[in-house]
This record gives sequence, structure tokens and C-alpha cells, in this order.
Amino acid sequence: MKLKVYLTRIYRFSSAHRLYSPRLTEEENRAVFGNCGNPKGHGHNYILEVTISGIPDPLTGMVIRRQNLDRIVEDKIIQPWDHRHLDEDTADFKGNFSTGEVITRIVWEKLRSCLEGASLSKIKLWETSSSFFEYFEKDIETVL
Ligand code: NI
Repeated sequence: MKLKVYLTRIYRFSSAHRLYSPRLTEEENRAVFGNCGNPKGHGHNYILEVTISGIPDPLTGMVIRRQNLDRIVEDKIIQPWDHRHLDEDTADFKGNFSTGEVITRIVWEKLRSCLEGASLSKIKLWETSSSFFEYFEKDIETVL
């Protein structure tokens, strides 16, 4: 019997963002986003948990080589986002909100197709010590 195994790796990045909707008035923005909409933005120390799954390779006993997963996350997420303003300095958030909800979905979209045969099962993004966002494998059909 071949059993699927889940592997989670934890990454960290620090980024600034500003929550603001051009479709709302200034007053509505203030009411919806409060301090998170301050014009110059603010920062978070994000913690990103990436969970992948698959049948361990019979040659290595592993689902994916850890260093390969780390390199993919580094190239796709950490390098372009760490110590940058998500809305102003990255292409990923042009036309997108940089809310935790949307960041989580964008991480999913950037990682899902490049995992060398393993499946992306879950993305969990901690924005503060009291808020995290999750996106699961089973949600693809209904959400995307
Ligand atoms: Ni924020």
C-alpha cells in the first residue's frame, strides 16, 4: 500500500503593505481598513507554512528534496517579497489587494505548478501572532 505523506516547511519574510481600495472613497477606506490603510503602509513579519504531499520516492524515501523546496520558495516568494513593499515594489500585487487572504492565494498560485511531482496541500500564512490565513488543496475547485 502506498501512503501519501505530508511535509511542512516554515519560512519567514518581512514586508510592508497598505490596504486600500481605489473603488472606495477615502472615508470608506478609513472605515474599512483603519490604520492598515495609512498612506505610507506598515510592515509585518510573516511566517509562511508550506505543506506538500506525495508518495515517498522509493529511491530516497522522500516526497521532495528539502533543499529543492527551499530553493523554489526562496526564488518565488522570499527573494521578490522580503524587505519590500508588496504593493509598490512587486509585480504580484498589481491590481490585487495585499490582504492576508490574497497573499495566501498568490503564494498558492506561485508554488503549485513547480513542485517537481509533489502536490501542494496547504498554505498557512501568519500575519500577526493572532491571525493566520489558510488555503487548502480541496478548495481549488470552488475558489479558483
Ligand atoms: Ni497589515
